[in-house]
Amino acid sequence: MERIDLLITGIGRLVTPPGNATRCGREMKEIREITDAAVAIRNGRITLVGPEQEVRDFLAGVEIAETIDVCGRMVTPGLVDPHTHLVHGGTREHELALKRSGVPYLDILAQGGGILSTVKSTRAASEQELYNKARRSLNEMLMNGVTTVEAKSGYGLTLEDELKQLRVAKCLNETHPLDIVSTFMGAHAVPPEYKGREDDFVDHIVHEMLPKVAEEVLAEFCDVFCEHGVFSIEQSRRILLEGKRNGLIPKIHADEIEPLGGAELASEVGAISAEHLLAATDEGLAALSKHGVVPVLLPGTSFNLGLSKHARARDMIDKYELPVALSTDYNPGSCPTESIQLVMMLASLNLKMTPEEILTACTINAANALGRGEHIGSIEVGKRADLTIFDAPNLAYLPYHFGINHTFGVIKNGNVIVWNRTIVTTEAGKEEAV
Ligand code: NIG
Ligand code: FE
Repeated sequence: MERIDLLITGIGRLVTPPGNATRCGREMKEIREITDAAVAIRNGRITLVGPEQEVRDFLAGVEIAETIDVCGRMVTPGLVDPHTHLVHGGTREHELALKRSGVPYLDILAQGGGILSTVKSTRAASEQELYNKARRSLNEMLMNGVTTVEAKSGYGLTLEDELKQLRVAKCLNETHPLDIVSTFMGAHAVPPEYKGREDDFVDHIVHEMLPKVAEEVLAEFCDVFCEHGVFSIEQSRRILLEGKRNGLIPKIHADEIEPLGGAELASEVGAISAEHLLAATDEGLAALSKHGVVPVLLPGTSFNLGLSKHARARDMIDKYELPVALSTDYNPGSCPTESIQLVMMLASLNLKMTPEEILTACTINAANALGRGEHIGSIEVGKRADLTIFDAPNLAYLPYHFGINHTFGVIKNGNVIVWNRTIVTTEAGKEEAV
């Protein structure tokens, strides 16, 4: 070994799921743990990980450019947030009273509010305004310990405004230390100008939007809000299959409010993930399991919508042996929070997931929901050096001591980005970590 760029010592407890593949069912509890550990990094990648003494012995005589001591703290893989609506204009606190008075989410949308209110603000916003707002959210996520985030379009709903959102996401990926993975979600709602002509809007997505998004290489995934009163199973199937023909991997907002068969559709079209799933049937869950679809659960959303119903995480894990992932669903309506740590707490409280399962769901399973299990989501030699340092003695402490941010530091691509709870560089620093 010629040289080490960064050696991290004093890791009281290093916890990570093993390997690159999704961890299904009871595998989700199996966490690799090393006490008094060290990690060595070169060219943005992990080159050694193990008990500190062994790592030091191995590196005897090797030049080490920088050593940092994390003084007994806990280190996990950088967290991955695989479902957000990051780029959008405006906020929706004006709907809070309506929501609290019991008006259902889909009724607010049907009255032209909800998603459509954010569509108005997003259309009115310049790229620079969208960039500035999303960048602030990215910094919040980073401070929470997140190192990779997915970002969906879907608040433009015209060709130009969808492209605008996706271009902002691309620019953020190039200029912010966090990695941003883009999803085209032109089928997020039917815009007012297509009211009563829903199939014409689907035609517009298929003929105008999808080819342009693909041509400009602005997204990796295609998502649809498949729900009663939004996009039907047939419309969703058409969009996802056309997306696939254009090289975009399907994802789907499925069975969130009604059991429409979105989970079955996800399996049929070969989706990489299916999200929400509160109302998914047993047949739907069995289909996900058979076709290796990652269920992405969003307990912040059910919490914020005041629902008493929750996704059936225990059945998904224990009965269907699924690789559950967790995400914030950060958006201005159903879940206005960037806090993945709040989601971890809610996964414990309402989904009855264990701390080990929660870590797996926020790391390797989330990475696989984005097709990136080979590169991120676990602490393995050869993988990208994305690490989160927590001011916490063990995993259970994270959902236990709730409502505060436990992140002390974040290493992204081998660079120290957050230290002592402060962002220390806003440089993207991605050159070496392709
Ligand atoms: O995942 N369900 C649809 N889309 C988002 C909400 C978007 C919004 O309310 O602005 C979700 O919850
Ligand atoms: Fe969503």
